[in-house]
Amino acid sequence: MHDFSFKNNVLYCESVPIKELALKFGTPLYVYSHKTLIGHYKKLKKAFSELNPLICFSVKSNSNLTILKTLVDEGAGLDVVSGGELFRAKKAGIDPKRIVYASVGKTASEIEEAVRMGILFFNVESLQELGAISEAATRLKKRARVCVRLNPNIDPHTHRYITTGTIESKFGVDFDTARIIFLNRENFKNVDICGLHVHIGSQITQVAPFLAALKRVASFVLEIKKMGPCLEWLNIGGGLGIIYNKEEPQTADEFASKVMPILKKIGLRVILEPGRFIVGNAGILVTRVIYVKENTVKRFVIVDAGMNDLIRPSLYDAYHEVLPVVKSSVVNRQSSAKKSDVVGPICESGDFLAKGRDLPVPDSGDFLAVMSAGAYGFSMSSNYNSRRRAAEVMVKGSKFHLIRERESFEDLVRLEKVVNL
Ligand code: LLP
Repeated sequence: MHDFSFKNNVLYCESVPIKELALKFGTPLYVYSHKTLIGHYKKLKKAFSELNPLICFSVKSNSNLTILKTLVDEGAGLDVVSGGELFRAKKAGIDPKRIVYASVGKTASEIEEAVRMGILFFNVESLQELGAISEAATRLKKRARVCVRLNPNIDPHTHRYITTGTIESKFGVDFDTARIIFLNRENFKNVDICGLHVHIGSQITQVAPFLAALKRVASFVLEIKKMGPCLEWLNIGGGLGIIYNKEEPQTADEFASKVMPILKKIGLRVILEPGRFIVGNAGILVTRVIYVKENTVKRFVIVDAGMNDLIRPSLYDAYHEVLPVVKSSVVNRQSSAKKSDVVGPICESGDFLAKGRDLPVPDSGDFLAVMSAGAYGFSMSSNYNSRRRAAEVMVKGSKFHLIRERESFEDLVRLEKVVNL
């Protein structure tokens, strides 16, 4: 599943001991395994090889330029959702013909830039947006391609904050609106409506909701084909769940074997937009224990990473396994029946990385690894409490590379002006 493992009680990323990286680069520190990253991409590519899909890595899950470039060099496309992500995609050296662009709120300038670049297509999420794309393309005397993002009203049985394909959510358009779009397609000058997009949510562990959504899409495709437009692409989104704790998500092969029959029937060129599946288990967050304190009911392991570094536990009550980086340094210490909360230094009770865990009692200075933090870890991090964002390191075999420096205090105030009022 990933390339972080213990050898003689010492946690390694591929052939590099995590402790060595923590001492060299400091903590909090994101560490990624090149092998795991590429391995997951290839698993998906192989599982779907019969359809030869374009796999557009979802930049929001991890937007580090080296991560993007590594995947782009392997042949991946990119799924972007903002002008900033478009900028990163360009920096990663991608051919714009492999970029797809979703988001309910693309601004005029973001649309213009994407049209100018000649991206593969926009995933359009409203009638108004389609009008804006048409205007921009006409103004720039270019043609823009779009896929209509359908909201199939399917519950993917995941956390409500990452459910995107039910009718209560802001994403995509319902089938009636999609019909209106296709019926009025001639009114949108300089726009080619070349396909459909559907993304129902994230961390989906069962294949059933994907199949339910695709069935609805399949009958819609038939309907649209009868209307005349020539569809080329079907973007089936991302959302594949991974193992954080005891989940038993479908594997890439299981997923592919279940969805390929229906995709073959639909007969369009397929795009997938996975983020978490590719990078989730390819990264960990390494943190150092600052203090340990106990009260009558529990133990608090206070570490130097907080909710600003990894917000998933605070925001979604997400589970991330926490492991000692060197097991032997903690096994002999007195343990007790008390459960541990692993908490950060931030002034909020919601600042925790793990709750109620049976952890060996660490000492100040010990390192802990917060597992499965590669997706929506660094990319959702912030400077809250004026904390500098963490450094990031990529390991490949026995080599490692700093792929983002730790921010400095100067970085924190670089854009501010002290105004005498
Ligand atoms: N495509 C679209 C249109 C999306 O909105 C997303 C994720 C993806 C693809 C990639 O989904 P994935 O394969 O990674 O599940 N911050 C949350 C997850 C938010 C997902 C947002 N959209 C978390 O930490 O769980």
